[in-house]
Amino acid sequence: MNIEDMKIKLQQSLNEKRYLHSIGVMDECEKLALHYEADVNKARIAGLLHDCAKNISQSEENTLLNKYEIKLDDIQKQSHALVHGILGMYVAREKYNINDEEILDAIYWHTTGRAGMTLLEKIVFIADYIEPARTFDDTEEIRKNAYEDIDRAIVLSADSTIRYLLERKKLVHPLTLDTRNDAILTLYKKASKS
Ligand SMILES: [Fe+2]
Ligand SMILES: [Fe+2]
Repeated sequence: MNIEDMKIKLQQSLNEKRYLHSIGVMDECEKLALHYEADVNKARIAGLLHDCAKNISQSEENTLLNKYEIKLDDIQKQSHALVHGILGMYVAREKYNINDEEILDAIYWHTTGRAGMTLLEKIVFIADYIEPARTFDDTEEIRKNAYEDIDRAIVLSADSTIRYLLERKKLVHPLTLDTRNDAILTLYKKASKS
């Protein structure tokens, strides 16, 4: 399936705002991939499809969880937002014929990140935060850092997410902490080499 056909299909399964966000993330992924010399085509596809399961209904979500025998942890069970990346990977494979494991992983991990992310995973994770339509208080700072040091941008994004969750007394998934710690350790390693 070419990317234009993917766009048509995606537009039918997302609301207007989410579709425009997806196009924004695709464009941002392209820019980041060019900047960091990653595979531009893979980055564009992963960016376009990262939220492909975002607008499914609760009943459809349950159907897919059963179909793919996905076991959620207790925190994921409490947060719909943590599930769409996982399901997105399956939807991308089945509905959009994506077989590339790097693209599928980038979709799967985009919400929390994880320790040891690939460059493509980092690009999608950060593009999701900084695409032009995002206007949180700290978006500008993350945007600036994204093109200087992607690991520093990841720390700032994780900080922002954790701060948001703490302020609302919500659960923080351990993968978000893993992402933050791993990015900080990476920064330390880079600093000690330079
Ligand atoms: Fe998402
Ligand atoms: Fe997104």
